[in-house]
Amino acid sequence: CGIIGYCGPRRAAPVLVEGLKRLEYRGYDSAGIALARVDQQASETSETGEEPGPLRVIKCKGKIKDLRAVVPADLPETTGIGHTRWATHGEVTDENAHPHLDSTESFAIVHNGVIENFHQLKDHLMAEGVEFRSETDSEVIVHLLARAYQGDLAAALKATVSLLKGTYGIVAMHRGEPGRLVGARNGSPLVLGIGQGEMFLASDTTAILGHTRQVVYLEDGEVVSVTADEYITSDLRNREIHKEVDHIGWELESIEKTGFSHFMEKEIHEQPEAIRRALRGRLDREYATGHLGGLNLGSRELLEVGRIVLLAAGTSYHAGMVATYALEELVRVPAVAELASELRYRNPLVERDALYFAASQSGETADTLYAMREVQRKGGRVLGVCNVVGSTIARESDGGVYIHSGPEISVASTKAFTSQLAAFYVFALLMGRMRHLSFDQGARIIEALEAVPKQIETILANTAPIQALAKRYASCEHFFFLGRGINYPVALEAALKLKEVSYIHAEGYSAAEIKHGPLALITEETPSFFLVPRDGLREKVITSMKEVKARRGPVIALAVEGDREVADTADEVLFVPEAHPLMYPFLLAVPTQLFAYYCALARGCNVDQPRNLAKSVTVE
Ligand code: G6P
Repeated sequence: CGIIGYCGPRRAAPVLVEGLKRLEYRGYDSAGIALARVDQQASETSETGEEPGPLRVIKCKGKIKDLRAVVPADLPETTGIGHTRWATHGEVTDENAHPHLDSTESFAIVHNGVIENFHQLKDHLMAEGVEFRSETDSEVIVHLLARAYQGDLAAALKATVSLLKGTYGIVAMHRGEPGRLVGARNGSPLVLGIGQGEMFLASDTTAILGHTRQVVYLEDGEVVSVTADEYITSDLRNREIHKEVDHIGWELESIEKTGFSHFMEKEIHEQPEAIRRALRGRLDREYATGHLGGLNLGSRELLEVGRIVLLAAGTSYHAGMVATYALEELVRVPAVAELASELRYRNPLVERDALYFAASQSGETADTLYAMREVQRKGGRVLGVCNVVGSTIARESDGGVYIHSGPEISVASTKAFTSQLAAFYVFALLMGRMRHLSFDQGARIIEALEAVPKQIETILANTAPIQALAKRYASCEHFFFLGRGINYPVALEAALKLKEVSYIHAEGYSAAEIKHGPLALITEETPSFFLVPRDGLREKVITSMKEVKARRGPVIALAVEGDREVADTADEVLFVPEAHPLMYPFLLAVPTQLFAYYCALARGCNVDQPRNLAKSVTVE
């Protein structure tokens, strides 16, 4: 979900709606805003001694454009909060949309996260006569806030959150203190934006990038109280905390489509540049090794590493899987990728010589964050591989690598996948050169890595065959993606991409495994998309292609330029440039991303905001 808050001299409603539009990638099933009637009402108050009028709330199910359609253009209020929702507790309805109000309509809150003890809290409140208007867990917060309030909103919020179990990023307002917002975080990000005579609170910086670059990242257990001119950060025991002000380096352009039809398309095309950024300053030709400044590990500690474990979810998990092949190959230590959500609850054995990585584009995925904390609790050392600077995983890890992809807005992740690979490969090179790799071998890896962006550029320069192929196959309801070795996880990722954006049912398999069951599903209507680079497993993959063909399944192959044998075996073929065998995951991923994109277009799907999904899932 996404949160935005504003107080300052401007009309709040358009600022909030625009901020929500920027946050829409984090959830988009319903949205709303609440506004404090500040100007005339505040002066009326002083004359009549009455409370200002109730808060104005406008919310509805649907996208931000639906909200925009019902928000009048000329609302005078200058303080407000907004929310775009990705449903957890309670269906998608107008009532369940945020902001939530207390019974007197004096307090409003927006909330990200999950309140685990909301049943108990709700029962208790209902027993005291509180009437609930929604089915959400979040609504308990506003009723608790109203009860705790004794003239100081920040104090009331502290009292409220001390009763909550679970995760939250909350922003609250009160009609009696118009011009003030308060926020608290535990496990769900919250950032303060400091403008000229105006302040913002948001769940991530993309919402406020158009207004200010000066930000303060809140930590768990911190509360912030904000007016147009000042902010105070404190902990739950009322101790004031002095926070550093960070500067966001991103350009506004990086969060706009800049001529592309969709963010997904833009981000696919950004990959050459994103990979260059992920590699910049990290490849050392003189010593044929890699440099990673943020690991916080000396060479002795790196030498002692006997096992590498990569934790992640979704696309980042697939990047981690690819990385395990490169790590084992170059470093010669066992490496495994684990689904963070599974590892956390398995009571994992944390070995002394194991090194953990938490890979996450957003740096906020709850599954990955909690798995990381579980490993740390058991004494393990976890490095982050994140894109979003200052994100929770980046801050809580024991060191790490930023991939520097720039903002990724499309829900389906593309450039973060290849940039994560680049970062992992630099690490593998660095570790490899400390162990078994010769200077020459290291130099070859550097050369191969540096060639990747250009090779991707040649793929991107000729997307027409991919688009034409997608048009021909977009009406299929089932797809297989098949690869082997280091490209097996690329097949998993390709299937995930197709599912996410085009809603075609797709399965990723090792090409070897297809004979152990999935062949039963092959029909003339079920195409198989084979990844067949020129590597040691090429012959084996060709055999699998023939097995599918023999059962009349349509065969699409993604092969290396000039590979006639593969082209002759397949019904359809797409080509990528010849490369170092370890680099094929980069090159094979790109056409499969484009294939998914074009299938989604052909099927009329909402590419950047697929149904039911959200970009960063900060709940378990
Ligand atoms: C969500 C997104 C996926 C993403 C996954 C992990 O499910 O929809 O695209 O791969 O989270 O996200 P992360 O930010 O941790 O890489």
